[in-house]
Amino acid sequence: MSDANPILASSEQSIRAYQQAIAQSSQAVVQWLQQPEMYQGKTVAELRERITLDFNPEGLGNQAAIERAIDYFLKDSLSVHHPQCVAHLHCPSLVISQAAEVLINATNQSMDSWDQSPSATLIEIKLIEWLRSQVGYPAGDAGVFTSGGTQSNLMGLMLARDAFFARRGHSIQQDGLTGDLRKIKVLCSRHAHFSVQKNMALLGLGYQSVTLVKTDRYARMDMNDLAEKVAQAEANGEQILAIVATAGTTDAGAIDPLRAVASLAAKHQIWMHVDAAWGGALLLSEKYRDYLDGLELADSVTLDFHKQFFQTISCGAFLLKDARHYELMRYQAAYLNSEFDEAQGVPNLVAKSLQTTRRFDALKLWMGLEALGQKQYAEIIDHGVTLAQEVARYVTEQAAFELVMEPQLASVLFRYRPAQMAAADDASVALLNQQIGDALLESGRANVGVTEFAGVTCLKLTLLNPTVSLEDIKILLALVEHTAQELLNA
Ligand SMILES: Cc1ncc(COP(=O)(O)O)c(C=O)c1O
Repeated sequence: MSDANPILASSEQSIRAYQQAIAQSSQAVVQWLQQPEMYQGKTVAELRERITLDFNPEGLGNQAAIERAIDYFLKDSLSVHHPQCVAHLHCPSLVISQAAEVLINATNQSMDSWDQSPSATLIEIKLIEWLRSQVGYPAGDAGVFTSGGTQSNLMGLMLARDAFFARRGHSIQQDGLTGDLRKIKVLCSRHAHFSVQKNMALLGLGYQSVTLVKTDRYARMDMNDLAEKVAQAEANGEQILAIVATAGTTDAGAIDPLRAVASLAAKHQIWMHVDAAWGGALLLSEKYRDYLDGLELADSVTLDFHKQFFQTISCGAFLLKDARHYELMRYQAAYLNSEFDEAQGVPNLVAKSLQTTRRFDALKLWMGLEALGQKQYAEIIDHGVTLAQEVARYVTEQAAFELVMEPQLASVLFRYRPAQMAAADDASVALLNQQIGDALLESGRANVGVTEFAGVTCLKLTLLNPTVSLEDIKILLALVEHTAQELLNA
């Protein structure tokens, strides 16, 4: 039976129901955290069969609904905190981030107007000011929290597009796209995130608008090719909206030469956006901060805190160097950011965001910085980068493994290729490595990434977890080898 009053409110009954529901859920989480397996190992077909949505019209009540969620969701979730869960840029989260979620969720503030989130609006604004100072931007508050890297990249590309047309006296906001759109281009490296393509399609310019620049052997943008592609585009009468540099490509963790890209972009008056969704974590690093040299020269920056800042999903930010560009997306909604309120200096964040209703995810970063302090934050970020270097060294010492790329951030790309496969063609080695990844997940013992890098199918370890040691990874590599041998013998 459903509960008499299902709403979180001040009545005794509601508070009791809230405390019971939270206690029941957090006890289940504690049990889940303690289970030894990384995953219970169900296949797609098994899970599809098991999960049924047979809603009871009378309602089950909180307790039974939570029990069902534990049974059908929690028990078959992937343990992102497990030392052998290293497939993706998918971090284990800070304990303080969990506490922040309790506050965010219970208060349910919405960031689209001051009268829906008074203290939250000001904390977010101050955090944006602080992030700008970390990047090396001029003082100001142009920027906003986002749902993550994809949305931040969309904001960068959209404002670049609109600024480009505005310089030619045309308002995209008012009048939409115009002219020979096939001539409009964006440049990024071959290893830039696919959200560049997806976002350009969303912006009405299609995948065709993305020109891919070659990379060097470390997967960084090749400056000669960039200069050539810009010159070629200009010679063809094409117009370049933006150059997107990446600080931390998804697989290799490569950081494009930001200062050189900025200098070329400035020479040609092209907007530079930096996707620092991953590498932006180095802003807090003690050892590796200088990898981000030149970031401050970008017109806009993507940061993502649900990667190596260890925040729960979702939590990202977009920073805009020159606040005047925010005018390009300005909309005045009488019920949220009226002229009257703005004239009185009432702050609002709706004008800076693509979203209207929006979570107070900034609280997680604020509490994380407060709880850990920059020193501990730096240590847990640096740990992954240093560990990747150690793991790469270990991999090169193992006869059965080949290192595919020197690590740059916290990932290691390698493949299994034992002596018995020395004569095997690339397709067979690729198939074996793919099967290793699948078999490990199916066994529930490990989640190792499988990706393609420079035409080579390889395995990927993304070593974000600061509690993981070289010893843990040696155990994982032994498991990879054992699994591979089983597959070869089968
Ligand atoms: C370099 C880079 N940019 C952007 C993104 C997209 O970020 P999100 O998944 O937060 O939208 C990713 C995701 O892995 C990424 O690796």
